[in-house]
Amino acid sequence: MAKILLFGSGELGKEFTIAAKRIGQTVIAVDSYPNAPAAQMADYSEVINMLDGNALDALVEKHKPDYIIPEIEAIRTERFYEYEKQGYTVIPSAKAANFTMNRKAIRDLAAKELGLKTADYRYATSAEILKKAVSEIGMPCIVKPLMSSSGKGQSTIKTEADIEKAWQYSQEGSRGDVAEVIVEAFVDFNYEITLLTVTQRSGKTLFCPPIGHRQERGDYIESWQPAPMKNDVLKEAQQMAEKVTTALTGYGIWGVEFFVADDGVYFSELSPRPHDTGMVTLAKTQNFNEFELHLRAVIGLPIPEITLERIGCSAVILGSGNFENPVFDGLEIVAAAPKTDFRIFGKTTSRLYRRMGVILTHDKLDGAIEDVIFRAKQLASKVKVIQK
Ligand SMILES: Nc1ncnc2c1ncn2[C@@H]1O[C@H](COP(=O)(O)OP(=O)(O)OP(=O)(O)O)[C@@H](O)[C@H]1O
Ligand SMILES: [Mg+2]
Repeated sequence: MAKILLFGSGELGKEFTIAAKRIGQTVIAVDSYPNAPAAQMADYSEVINMLDGNALDALVEKHKPDYIIPEIEAIRTERFYEYEKQGYTVIPSAKAANFTMNRKAIRDLAAKELGLKTADYRYATSAEILKKAVSEIGMPCIVKPLMSSSGKGQSTIKTEADIEKAWQYSQEGSRGDVAEVIVEAFVDFNYEITLLTVTQRSGKTLFCPPIGHRQERGDYIESWQPAPMKNDVLKEAQQMAEKVTTALTGYGIWGVEFFVADDGVYFSELSPRPHDTGMVTLAKTQNFNEFELHLRAVIGLPIPEITLERIGCSAVILGSGNFENPVFDGLEIVAAAPKTDFRIFGKTTSRLYRRMGVILTHDKLDGAIEDVIFRAKQLASKVKVIQK
């Protein structure tokens, strides 16, 4: 049986660990704090600062894993190249993990090297340079730290007066030691999707039915599957996803994010791992959920096909404030609703807007997706995270 060293132990890592344990793999779950969601499921757990390269090295040396699987972006990913040289398998690859943790690396690869359509963009290392970049791109535009996720440090510039504020805000939300930002033209999209893409060791690249989602404060609020879209638009997104995952190399599931606008499909960014919006697959919308697909692709089990089994929606349950030992009020209402399920992640601390759980609704294939979304939203609003 394979030994998996999982860097990051949040809700996505937890479901991945459950998938791995179901078929007898060994998992060592790592995070910066004890008893994280995946640590509650894993064989062993470790607590380190994952931005500390020496701490990563020590764990790799100690456990000698068959697979090193990053579950989050905020890791000293440069070290992964060294692990590959030493003969370790990094999922999906050192290149993929390293490129996607820095918006500059992945954007230049996608737009310049691969020629994918993206929002017009520039980089800036100071408020002055940002000002010049904004004058070239036009307003509205979006500023993002090169290293950040979940919308941290991200803001929209609508007028000249926003530029200085946007720079300041980006510096507060940036992770790691890079002060640079990307500024992107605002894409007035009709909808956005995540295209879960599976690259296999032997076997062709597979695509999950597209997932639609809605974002607030840089994090997803609801995601649904399938996202209604025209077949030629979907094909275009699939071709772009195939190109970028091939260039990044490796095996596993990827969450490739696109904007669909009147003038075509824009590549936005991608996760080289299960995607948060992909939690909708926990509603058993597919023959295998995104975590099972990741696991199979990682350990080299063939995946013959991905099929849509029913339609579904996930809606997040967010923390209402900062406190320990949160409990959940209103779960009886959720449990009493038909065609509904939920997950509570088991996080021991609530923070404002922290994702604590998810509502899952579904219906038959010929059901109406709007109704499934409506039910998920309604039920999510009934659950309150409260102090014990
Ligand atoms: N250029 C853009 N035009 C319009 N909307 C955008 C643009 N860039 C980002 N957004 C909106 O902001 C959301 C978050 O952006 P992005 O995915 O780049 O940030 P992130 O911090 O990496 O988020 P996450 O890590 O949660 O995926 C997008 O899903 C989209 O709704
Ligand atoms: Mg994103």
